[in-house]
Amino acid sequence: MDKLSKENLPRHLAVIMDGNGRWAKQRMLRRIVGHQKGVETVRLIVEECSRLGIAYLTLFAFSAENWLRPKTEVKALMALLKKYIRSEIARMMQNNIRFNVIGDRGELPADINREIDEAIARTSGNSGMLLTLALSYGARQEIVHAARQIAIDAASGKITADSIDEELFSDYLYTDRIPEPDFLIRTSGEMRISNFLLWQLAYTELYFTDVNWPDFDRNELAKAFRDYQARERRFGKTSDQLRVSGADARRP
Ligand code: IPE
Ligand code: IPE
Ligand code: MG
Repeated sequence: MDKLSKENLPRHLAVIMDGNGRWAKQRMLRRIVGHQKGVETVRLIVEECSRLGIAYLTLFAFSAENWLRPKTEVKALMALLKKYIRSEIARMMQNNIRFNVIGDRGELPADINREIDEAIARTSGNSGMLLTLALSYGARQEIVHAARQIAIDAASGKITADSIDEELFSDYLYTDRIPEPDFLIRTSGEMRISNFLLWQLAYTELYFTDVNWPDFDRNELAKAFRDYQARERRFGKTSDQLRVSGADARRP
């Protein structure tokens, strides 16, 4: 396989990690075994992205809608999450990774929130890749939350209605200070967004693979990145315009 060029890799990669359950089912295993195997993939991909110099990696780990799954699965996922965050701090320190969470943290159990706070605090001085886990995350909820906050600030006179523009709106999202994703990967063959980063994905390049998340590996990542590298991001302009002014024609 061709070697992956480090040129023109996405600055921000977002991933919808899907297919743990089907991976397990195909092997006559319990769904939770698929989630356990999925955590191993998370480790691998986090390390590989950090090694490749990806600046921002955002992983959809648990959606606002996933609370509707059977109680036993939700409980097992929370236990796995707690174990993962706790055990990963040392590795994040080794790899200079900063940890971050987006989503409705108020819905998460208190012990998970403690682990999250600890991981964020311990890794806050690191200067490498920003690893963001989307937990209890729903994009519509995020947008409504932002709108409500903006209304509160407008009512109290902190901002004026005239000052509300795209930039200000973005600042009220959970992803303020994180650039929009350049590339989104979804595994397991589903071709939908499932309420992930609706605002932020406006001009993101999308990539879908049939591979289930537990089977996704370095080679699959390299394959996805090569696909990304072959794309032309036009942001509404024409191909000729991009060629004339090069990178300047692109959005920042
Ligand atoms: C993704 O795998 C992990 C979570 C959503 C938590 P799934 O559990 O959705 O696996 P499938 O889609 O049922 O195969
Ligand atoms: C999306 O996967 C959420 C995560 C990967 C955490 P789902 O498996 O929940 O998505 P749907 O329900 O099939 O769209
Ligand atoms: Mg799924």
